[in-house]
Amino acid sequence: TIIRRMDYRPPDWLVPDVTLDFDLDPALTRVRATLSVTRNGDHDLPLRLDGEGIVPLSVCVDGRPLAQDEWHLEAGALIIALPDTAHSVETLVELSPEGNSKLMGLYASGGLLCTQCEAEGFRRITFFPDRPDILSRYSVRMEADKARFPILLANGDPIEQGDLPEGRHWARWNDPFLKPCYLFALVAGDLACNADRFVTMSGREVQLGIWVREADLARTDHAMHALKNSMAWDERVYGREYDLDVFNIVAVADFNFGAMENKGLNIFNSRYILADPETATDIDYDGVEGVVAHEYFHNWSGNRVTCRDWFQLSLKEGFTVFRDQNFSADMGSHAVKRIEDVRILRAGQFQEDSGPLAHPVRPESYMEISNFYTATIYNKGAELIRMMALMLGAERFRAGTDLYFDRHDGQAATCEDFVLAMEEGGGIDLTQFRRWYEQAGTPHVRALISHDPISQSATLTLEQTMPPTPGQTHKQPMAIPLRTALFDPATGQHRGDELLMLTEGKQSFTFTGFPVTPIPSINRGFSAPVIVETNRSQDDLAFLSAHDDDPFARYEAMQQLMVNVLVGRIAGHATDDATVIDAVRNTITDPLLDPAFIAETIRLPSEAYLGDQMRLVDPDAIHAARDALQQQIGAGLEPLWRDIHARTKANAFSLSPAAKGARKLRNAALHYLVASGAQDGPAIAFVQFSEADNMTERQAALGTLANGASPEREAALDIFYNRYAADALTLDKWFQTQAFALHPDTVDLVAQLSTHKDFTLANPNRVRSLFGAFAGNQWAFHHKSGKGYRLLADCIIALDRLNPQTAAKLVPPLGRWKRFEEKRAALMRAELQRILAQPGLSKDVTEQAGKSLE
Ligand code: ARG
Ligand code: ZN
Repeated sequence: TIIRRMDYRPPDWLVPDVTLDFDLDPALTRVRATLSVTRNGDHDLPLRLDGEGIVPLSVCVDGRPLAQDEWHLEAGALIIALPDTAHSVETLVELSPEGNSKLMGLYASGGLLCTQCEAEGFRRITFFPDRPDILSRYSVRMEADKARFPILLANGDPIEQGDLPEGRHWARWNDPFLKPCYLFALVAGDLACNADRFVTMSGREVQLGIWVREADLARTDHAMHALKNSMAWDERVYGREYDLDVFNIVAVADFNFGAMENKGLNIFNSRYILADPETATDIDYDGVEGVVAHEYFHNWSGNRVTCRDWFQLSLKEGFTVFRDQNFSADMGSHAVKRIEDVRILRAGQFQEDSGPLAHPVRPESYMEISNFYTATIYNKGAELIRMMALMLGAERFRAGTDLYFDRHDGQAATCEDFVLAMEEGGGIDLTQFRRWYEQAGTPHVRALISHDPISQSATLTLEQTMPPTPGQTHKQPMAIPLRTALFDPATGQHRGDELLMLTEGKQSFTFTGFPVTPIPSINRGFSAPVIVETNRSQDDLAFLSAHDDDPFARYEAMQQLMVNVLVGRIAGHATDDATVIDAVRNTITDPLLDPAFIAETIRLPSEAYLGDQMRLVDPDAIHAARDALQQQIGAGLEPLWRDIHARTKANAFSLSPAAKGARKLRNAALHYLVASGAQDGPAIAFVQFSEADNMTERQAALGTLANGASPEREAALDIFYNRYAADALTLDKWFQTQAFALHPDTVDLVAQLSTHKDFTLANPNRVRSLFGAFAGNQWAFHHKSGKGYRLLADCIIALDRLNPQTAAKLVPPLGRWKRFEEKRAALMRAELQRILAQPGLSKDVTEQAGKSLE
């Protein structure tokens, strides 16, 4: 069945108060729920409480046990006819947390019991109207064996606890804030706490706790630091302070995604909490900081103001991603953060937007909401907020967010409410801008510069087109804010950065006072999530890659320079490689540039990104062309790579931006040095691998070695395995590195690894490190035999029986068949059909595979 946005109706019944009583046990947990329910409006509809995989052992209304014929189940939901406007409804159910392989609802992970309710997991715990516009006050009592589960946590504040006979104990937690049930959480287990405190701007003291297994306690400091920084940042930048007396975070090993913002009790995938130099890369450290911030920021953008229905998901996710991106930029480098975020957007969201699963930021319909936790909702959603912030300017944007938070505090709101607050608070008309929420697909902007020597004027002609997407054949022009500067090639200067608003299909902007044709720098800072096509020459791009004062535009010019050469080669044209090598040389020898920025800029566009630039993707030709250019850049600048690699070696580990930048550049230099084909390349990589005092350098060396065939490759993989076999998060890297390797045998290696004793479908991190990475390895996955497709489909089919949500996330790579030649396309479709033909296939995978075939 398909759920449509237009069918939204306010709830028939409200649930102002919820009392939950958990008798916890991994094999058999009993949940008694008492709901106060009130009729909403004038109707005589029965009460409908969603349920999934549970049956009521008893149902009482106002204290009276109901007979079997006074309630019934309908598609899992409990239906009760109630005579009056207010009642108390009590249900009792039994669950088996350790039998819950979907990791939704109440489940067991590494000896803990924990919950995940967003989006629709609460109905797997108890009967409840499981929709985000039902806001309730919760009181939770838990009891459990005290030795196995000494720590009992839930949302809100701890109220009371005590011991019980037979080695059991109990605790009660009350959450004074109204919340939707998707924010409910509890955790029980043997946990150690990194405890700290934070004093809010109004002087309230908050107890902070990060709860992990005792052995992991030493790896929680970075997360705690990030949490305190996030709390201070949200006060300073948005004027929002924390509202409860305690804030707890728990790390669990088995988790379907990154983390969850449950009120006062965030639950995290341990990979976004645990970090130390021995096991975490700088990217991991940044991931911890960003996700801790993200979940914390949800306390306002998500919890205090939540979503009316799941079509509004981007209201909280897009806005919160925007907030965490800006926080991370403030903690480190704005330039580098923007480059990283755009790379993520292009790799994930642009692909989604150009394929069969394209959907608007505010979707119109879905089968399974879990499938809509997408790059479009999150990352494109964040770009929409960013564009509004840009158009408004910092002060008016803040006025808009103040209005939004104040007006909707304690409410379940819509994307439209957010836009209205921006319009009223910021004083701007966003009528046309709203199309960004409605129309799927990535706009293409064609930008042509022309010059008239007589009037000494330059004209920039901008034309926008939007490709059709499923269900949307005709599109209206979008409002596209393009930060632009025109460079005078003679002086190397421009006259200022202007915000051009492209609102029509085609528009021209004329600038006077240009004796020669200027070089346009367009979409600076990536001001709009669009694809820009220009008539700039390779020389123009080389000029911008050396002179543009907007770091993103400078990076972009270099990338475009490389893309042009590579796409030209793949098409069989003679290309001017010297321009690229010169531009790389200029960049790596520029003493004024930040090493982290240099490392980002000189990196070749990924094989997948190159594929996106072509109508039909030829994975082998792309790989060959990119590999050859990499070898040329490596060999052409070999002494420089050696020099950089030697001088970026640090004496002692530090997380300072300078130290992180040095590691990033050192790894890039190593990569080019090995790619150059230099005899001693693998040996140098092996020395870095062996001597590094941090995972950033060790994993990069391993990754570089994994691409080629050398004795060092096998030795390093063995050493890495033996050193980290006992540490799941680090062993994930061993799987991931091999699945990502640009090595001719990767498909077969991944097949072997899928039968390795340490591989398991039960742990989503492990599945993603092997199969998620493999599906993102274009050259390997699209092996012309089709064996890569078969391997992934086998995994999806097996995993769907255990964990449909994580299985469904692996389907989209198979859905890109239209972009491949007929033989590969047919093989991909055949695998999608084979998946769809499985008996008992989940709704999650059915929706993804079905749409992928259309
Ligand atoms: N709200 C969580 C976050 O911080 C993610 C929840 C994902 N849920 C899901 N069903 N995929 O982004
Ligand atoms: Zn989120």
